[in-house]
Amino acid sequence: MAFDRFGRHLHYLRISLTDRCNLRCVYCMPEKMTFMPSAALMQDEEILRLTRVFARLGVDKIRLTGGEPTVRPGIVALVRALRQIPGIRELTMTTNGVLLSRMAQPLAEAGLTRVNVSLDTLHAGKFRRLTRWGDVEDVLDGIQAAEEAGLQPVKLNAVVVRGYNEADVVDLARLTVDHPWQVRFIEMMPFAGATDFQRLMLVTAAQMKARIEAALGPLEPLHNGRLDGEARLYRLPGARGTVGFIASVSQPFCAACTRLRLTADGHLRLCLLREDEVDLLTPLRQGASDEALRRLILNAVWRKPWGHGLAQGDAPQDRTMSQIGG
Ligand code: 5AD
Ligand code: SF4
Repeated sequence: MAFDRFGRHLHYLRISLTDRCNLRCVYCMPEKMTFMPSAALMQDEEILRLTRVFARLGVDKIRLTGGEPTVRPGIVALVRALRQIPGIRELTMTTNGVLLSRMAQPLAEAGLTRVNVSLDTLHAGKFRRLTRWGDVEDVLDGIQAAEEAGLQPVKLNAVVVRGYNEADVVDLARLTVDHPWQVRFIEMMPFAGATDFQRLMLVTAAQMKARIEAALGPLEPLHNGRLDGEARLYRLPGARGTVGFIASVSQPFCAACTRLRLTADGHLRLCLLREDEVDLLTPLRQGASDEALRRLILNAVWRKPWGHGLAQGDAPQDRTMSQIGG
């Protein structure tokens, strides 16, 4: 089992399958984004090999991320193969939903457990302004397809950006009244590139919550107000679904962090918000044994940091969100 020096049990691995995306969200990447060369990305066999090593170390939950994981060629076959690795009990995906209307069913059949769909606003014009290229109807169709395919419970993620969608938290939260969804509001985190924009446009979870309560009434805390994973969950009066807040910037949840991240180019990233990484892909390509990879991982895990410096204005400068996978 992989434990770090703080006793955190690291059993959740997020794998970025590609840094590419079919959208260009303003808080994530510039419109003219440069991507990594394909040869730098992990190939399917390499992902499977590393995942087997992680699974033997006790990883039982995998989330596929990007960029946008559904734009990776052969994604359905990769999901099927990952699902067959012994020990993997949960295989989920974070997606922008654009391609889900046609991919939800094959992905579910291949063994995907659930999806988190990013949706920052229900308003077509604002959606286009935030994503630059997106059509909100595609995402809404995708969410419906995911539900019909049994990829449940559907979770929706909204990054809230001042001047773009801070008023839209109300309409998004209202979705939970009739739908058994979890709608989660995420504080925008500063990354390399668009950092100043991200810092200036931050809306805190407390501000989002106040806006929702002013419009829709009091949010009743669930789990005695404790964290559920990275989110603090609430319910609107009589609602079927739940509302969550992910306050990564204003209230870091490092104590509850059980995650490891594999970047699209095969580096083990110890914390989303810190630059410490260990390259696993190069040794793998040079012929490292499973045992050698296992030792590299265990040594790295031991160094997993605690705490990030966002509140003090420290942001990671080495990579963007789309390379790490969120
Ligand atoms: N801060 C917070 N979340 C972000 N995402 C992308 N960039 C940022 C950022 N700067 C989120 C997307 C999606 C996931 C892939 O990462 O909205 O939910
Ligand atoms: Fe693509 Fe997600 Fe980044 Fe938007 S936030 S550009 S959908 S990777």
